[in-house]
Amino acid sequence: MRTKHTRRTRSRISIHRIDTAASYGNEEAVGNAIRKSGIDREALFITTKLWVQDAGYEPTQDAFVRSLKKLGLDYLDAYLIHQPYGDVYSAWRAMEGLYKEGAVRAIGVSNFHPDRIMDLIVHNEVTPAINQIETHPFCQQKETQKFLNENKVQIESWGPLAEGKNNLFHNDSLKVIAEKYNKSVAQVVLCWLMQRGVVVIPKSVNKGRIIENFNSIAHAIPSLNWANKKAHKTRRIASTTKGQLHS
Ligand SMILES: NC(=O)c1ccc[n+]([C@@H]2O[C@H](COP(=O)([O-])OP(=O)(O)OC[C@H]3O[C@@H](n4cnc5c(N)ncnc54)[C@H](OP(=O)(O)O)[C@@H]3O)[C@@H](O)[C@H]2O)c1
Repeated sequence: MRTKHTRRTRSRISIHRIDTAASYGNEEAVGNAIRKSGIDREALFITTKLWVQDAGYEPTQDAFVRSLKKLGLDYLDAYLIHQPYGDVYSAWRAMEGLYKEGAVRAIGVSNFHPDRIMDLIVHNEVTPAINQIETHPFCQQKETQKFLNENKVQIESWGPLAEGKNNLFHNDSLKVIAEKYNKSVAQVVLCWLMQRGVVVIPKSVNKGRIIENFNSIAHAIPSLNWANKKAHKTRRIASTTKGQLHS
């Protein structure tokens, strides 16, 4: 139900980016929503992900076919290895094959640390196009982004709004910036990420917030270095309760 409503809202405001995964258990619902939206396939960018239990050569090929079938598609825009666990080497070789056949337009990974990415780059033909990792004001990923840029891997943020944790929407420093630029805290955070060259996939089931998040692309915010410093200070405080990076 939520998927149906959310997709309709996104269609109306022209967000044509869909991020799903086999492990989310919603590929069939996403497929139904795509069909009902009536949007041309070429206007959509659809990503799904391979789950850990399917890491392996043939299991990856089978999982890909299963995902395509559930989504009702004949190709994917991006296919990512969801986590760096299991036989990711064989999974990557199978994904390279799918890429060369044209069954998927881009292949990438998610939650991979730089050493695991370098391992894939050095030992394979195709460099991952994307690494989807947790990236937000409390987990800025600056060094990782530098590494990814140097190796031509696009950083994509999951949890760009920190999943609302650590009281992000009421953070004092972010509120000051939001007031100064007449934006919401969510818009400041999304702007800051995009200005850094990070691809964002904020999630909301609320129509007003989807529109608000979409509108964050409208204007750049100057002086975001200041925001970086303030948010970094907050991150140091937050990290005492949050612990280590997600993997
Ligand atoms: N690769 C991975 O391992 C991985 C892991 C986690 C997530 N992801 C992907 O990343 C996407 C986004 O991450 P996420 O859902 O975890 O976190 P997120 O986008 O950082 O935060 C979502 C939360 O923020 C709220 N929210 C959204 N916009 C808001 C606004 N403008 N004002 C106030 N609250 C707002 C949402 O509530 P409402 O819905 O009520 O608005 C929801 O509770 C997901 O869709 C998922 O596909 C990937």
